[in-house]
Amino acid sequence: MRRKLVIGNWKMNGNLAANASLLAGISAGLSAGAADCAVCAPAPYLAQCQAALTGTPVGWGAQDMSAHASGAYTGEVSAAMLVDFASRYVILGHSERRAYHLESSELVAKKTVAALAAGLIPVVCIGETLAEREAGQTNAVVGAQLGAVLEAISTADVARLVLAYEPVWAIGTGKTATPEMAQEVHAALRAQLAQANAAAAPAVQILYGGSMKPDNAKELMAQPDIDGGLIGGAALKATDFLAIIHAAA
Ligand code: 13P
Repeated sequence: MRRKLVIGNWKMNGNLAANASLLAGISAGLSAGAADCAVCAPAPYLAQCQAALTGTPVGWGAQDMSAHASGAYTGEVSAAMLVDFASRYVILGHSERRAYHLESSELVAKKTVAALAAGLIPVVCIGETLAEREAGQTNAVVGAQLGAVLEAISTADVARLVLAYEPVWAIGTGKTATPEMAQEVHAALRAQLAQANAAAAPAVQILYGGSMKPDNAKELMAQPDIDGGLIGGAALKATDFLAIIHAAA
C-alpha cells in the first residue's frame, strides 16, 4: 500500500565535482523496481541536481526553507525558490536545525504550511534526545512535535506529509534504534495521524533516520510502519546509498 522512500540528507557536504560523481553514480546504479528515492542537497546545488537528475527516477529537494514567502529575510531561501529548481521535497525541523538554530515546533509547523502551499512535499523530522528517552518522555516529545504540525495544517493536508522519525541520539553516532524501538514510535505517530485524518494516515510515509546503513536498513524497513529512510552519512557514498535503496525495494 505504501511505497518505500529513501531520501539522502547531504547536510553541509559536497562540492560541484563530488556531487557530479555522486549523482551520476546514484542514477547509473538504480535497478528497475528500486524504491522511490531523492537527495536533499544544500540550496546552492539544487540547480546542479536539477540538471543531473531530470529524466531520472531520482528526485531532489532542500534541507530547510523560510516560513516567509519573500522579503527582507537576509540569508533565507523561500519555498518558491525551491520550486524554481523543480524541487520535490524539503526537509523541515531536522534536529540539527532545532538544536543549532533554535527552531521551535511552531516554526516548523509554519514552514510546513508554507511548503504545502508551494506544492512541495515536506519531510517533517521529529525525534527525542537521549535524556528524553531515558526519562520515558519519547512519546510525549515526538507527539508534541507532530501535534504542532497537525494543528497548523488542514485535515486534508495530512495526506501530503512525509514524516521522519530521527532519534537525536542515533544521528551520526553509529547507534541505531532497534527495529522494535523504531516501530513502536512509528506506530504511535501513525495513530496520532489517524486521529487527525483516519482515511489518510495509513498512506503517510514515515521514514526512519539515524545511522541507517546498508547493513541495518533491511531489518529496519521490514517493520510494518517503517516506510523508508532518511539517510545522512551513508547518502554521501553512491554504493552505500544504492544498497539502502535496493534494501528498501
Ligand atoms: P546519519 O545517517 O548520518 O546518522 O544522519 C541521519 C540524519 O540526520 C538524516 O537526516
